[in-house]
Amino acid sequence: MHDELENSQPEAPVESSKEAGAGASGETPIVNAEAVNSTETTTNNPAEGSATPPPTQPEPVVLQNGILADSTAFGYYLTYCLSDDELIYPLIVEMLARFHNMIDECARTFNVPSLTAVVAVGSEAWDKLYGEAKPAALKAFPEMKQADRVAPATPCDLFFQIRSDRHDINFNVARRIQAILGEIAQLQEAVPTFRYLESRDLTGFVDGTENPEGEHRHKVAIVGPEDADFAGGSYVHIQRYIHDLPSWNQQSVEQQEQIIGRTKTDNIEFKGDKKLPTSHIKRAGIKDEEGKAVEILRQSMPYGDLNEQGLYFVSYCRFADNFTRMLASMIYQNAEGHHDHLMGFTQAVTGAALFAPARSFLTRYVGFAAKAEQLRIEHEAAEAARLAAELAEQNSTRAELAYTPLSDELLEPEIDIPEPAEPQSTESNAAQVLPTPLEQAKPPAKRYSAGFYQAMIEDAEAETKPEQPAEPKKPLNALPWSLTDAGKQKKDPQ
Ligand code: HEM
Repeated sequence: MHDELENSQPEAPVESSKEAGAGASGETPIVNAEAVNSTETTTNNPAEGSATPPPTQPEPVVLQNGILADSTAFGYYLTYCLSDDELIYPLIVEMLARFHNMIDECARTFNVPSLTAVVAVGSEAWDKLYGEAKPAALKAFPEMKQADRVAPATPCDLFFQIRSDRHDINFNVARRIQAILGEIAQLQEAVPTFRYLESRDLTGFVDGTENPEGEHRHKVAIVGPEDADFAGGSYVHIQRYIHDLPSWNQQSVEQQEQIIGRTKTDNIEFKGDKKLPTSHIKRAGIKDEEGKAVEILRQSMPYGDLNEQGLYFVSYCRFADNFTRMLASMIYQNAEGHHDHLMGFTQAVTGAALFAPARSFLTRYVGFAAKAEQLRIEHEAAEAARLAAELAEQNSTRAELAYTPLSDELLEPEIDIPEPAEPQSTESNAAQVLPTPLEQAKPPAKRYSAGFYQAMIEDAEAETKPEQPAEPKKPLNALPWSLTDAGKQKKDPQ
């Protein structure tokens, strides 16, 4: 793990002339990650253990470059679960801090400018890795079920989206991730994806047509000043769907077009009554209470082999709720009893909600593992010192007790020897050799400490003292046994 990390240089985002958009907060400049690919400087030295240098200027927010990227020919989507061993969490934070540096390194080394990536963290994992400060809407995946339509939530703490126009490079990057995380996290799925024909889903329909374009992508997908600490990040939802293609292909093209809501060959949207209320684009293309379109940025890709085929659905949004509302509209029947008929031909088998923080958020933690290790060592040393002091204290008390001299009386206590019973001179018991009462009453050979004997004596005293009924205390001269019988009679008023 460390070797792998050492190979990456620490980094700090720098502003660039290739700025992609206006600052999310109005004060904090936002930089597209591509801008920093080849212009990195080093300000954060893990050897010095400085994970979070106090920024004097507002830190430029740098996006993860795979969120807004255009579609590519290939992808590799990986999911991982964390173990319960909290000692490895700093290593994972460190790995994520250096992740985009590794991606840039690969893009340069292999000369693949289309290579982009995103890493996203699930809600529970966020608490473990980054602590209390958390993106406002990061929650568990909104599991849904109605009739045979299901959107399950499945275990996923980390999601990696790797995309480029070269499958071999994506594979190379996936292997690098696995080389680092393989030993410290549990790989859930590694799904190679591909662009199919002219960006079609395996149902044969063009997918992504109504995705936001240009600057609008940023507005739809990237968190802004409404959650300033996490500006530049994005809420991610992933679902792996398995298509029932034999059943889908039994439908006529007209039926398929009605289910999607667009023509198949030339991808034209149905208008008016032709767009059925049960069509996918009607159910997913929803509006909010003010009549404004609810939007997400989809980065889904087909996947599959000859046994299983489907869509790896990935969406990014600024407001996590947008995805939830769309999915609910697809799965649950509305007041008129309509749901998305596409759901009859495909089935979600995984589901996870995550947050992809800004790249500049991730890189704040370069050097974190070394710092955490240092803290752990210090904590262990303090704990060892505390235990040693406690042990020394216990030993000195024992030593005191051990050296308290035992009085003769304690060593050979006076023992009441009961009178021997009248011997019964029968032949049988005369033959028996019984221990004498003295022998029976011998103290055990084992020597106990003075404290032990002291406790024994106190117990014995307590046993022999008859219990006095609690009487109210009287002045001494009023005690009955201070008077003679005569005096008692004299004093007696009767
Ligand atoms: C197997 C699953 C899915 C398939 C095969 C699929 C396929 C498609 C296709 C072919 C289109 C039309 C072209 C386009 O505008 O992109 C479309 C549109 C869309 N899909 Fe999906 N989709 C799937 C799941 C989802 C899910 C889970 C969501 C969101 C929760 C979603 C949201 C949308 C949206 C917002 C549109 C655009 C609607 C509009 O025209 O305004 N899709 N999808």
